[in-house]
Amino acid sequence: MKGVLLHGGFGTRLRPLTHTGPKQLIRVAGKPVSQWALEDLRDSGVRDIAIILGELGPDKVIDFYGDGSWLGMKLTYIYQGYPYGLAHAIYIAKEFIGDEPFVVYLGDNILIDGISEFVKKFIDSDADAMVLLTKVPDPRKFGVAEFDESGKLKRLVEKPKKPPSNYALVGVYFFKPPHIFRAIETLKPSWRKELEITDAIQKLINWGLKVDYSIVKGWWKDTGEVEDLLEANRILLDHKYKTQIIKGEIRGNARVEGRVFIDEGATVENNSIVRGPTYIGKNTVIGPKTYIGPYTSIGNNCKLTNVEIENSIILDNVIIEGISNRMTDSIIGSNTTIIRKHGVPRGYRFIVGEISKITINE
Ligand code: G1P
Repeated sequence: MKGVLLHGGFGTRLRPLTHTGPKQLIRVAGKPVSQWALEDLRDSGVRDIAIILGELGPDKVIDFYGDGSWLGMKLTYIYQGYPYGLAHAIYIAKEFIGDEPFVVYLGDNILIDGISEFVKKFIDSDADAMVLLTKVPDPRKFGVAEFDESGKLKRLVEKPKKPPSNYALVGVYFFKPPHIFRAIETLKPSWRKELEITDAIQKLINWGLKVDYSIVKGWWKDTGEVEDLLEANRILLDHKYKTQIIKGEIRGNARVEGRVFIDEGATVENNSIVRGPTYIGKNTVIGPKTYIGPYTSIGNNCKLTNVEIENSIILDNVIIEGISNRMTDSIIGSNTTIIRKHGVPRGYRFIVGEISKITINE
């Protein structure tokens, strides 16, 4: 089975983090969101994968993943350019797919229990396509399934105002060519001017082809917004880091408590506490006098001194120093500096990029 990983989109709801690159490269629990997806594909036996690149920072994706051999997979890159929709992104992988069954994985989706059981199920089945569904409280921002009396899939609607059920489409789809490509050829752009994969699968149902579904019971997230990234970070830290691993150094009377991962070259300096689950990247310096609380991921080459941080994601090359209030629920983009100085005039000084958000909770 081959794989197609979608890596496009503008990530508008994640600005300013997405001014400089695709949202799928934002790191949660130490790895880019799309790396969690790629590793899931690999661990399910899908190793020959095309990554569909969008207009935003495609070179950053290629620089990061390369030929994929370091992950034990073979990667091919296909440029989509302008985002004409998920169905269009899949269509341009037609030649890469040939006549093999394939799985499409949206690179911003995270499934904590992975997809291996679904890969097996689809390989063994005679279905032409299979979708994954999961029960959500508010399905209006997803594709939604409607079933007939016998429980068979009857209709799929994209972002309906009145959802026919609580079952949302998860961003992982299974197909056997060539029907899906024929279906995409007949599509017209939707109200959001995109060729919708949901509409293409509806065509397969209309044509009487066998479209199966499986239910995802474990935690799933489409990481489109800041709160989603923070939640994904918490869940991944909890599930993927089961023991304390310290490759760096703990100095003086510093303490490390619980499931903490500290990468090579990183140090925890005097009078500091790191409490897990927490991830600390390469060559980062924590402390002195610093508290890193649970559910926090810190990138590479950061320097955090005399601060308290909890439930947050700090990306690479960040300096934070002498902030008296605890920082929480934050995402700090790479190369950012936040420092406290003593001088006049007193006050906050912000040099902040477009569409940033600063909240001071007093
Ligand atoms: C896409 C699909 C939608 C699906 C969702 C899952 O939505 O169109 O049917 O439920 O992914 O992540 P989009 O992220 O393009 O809004």
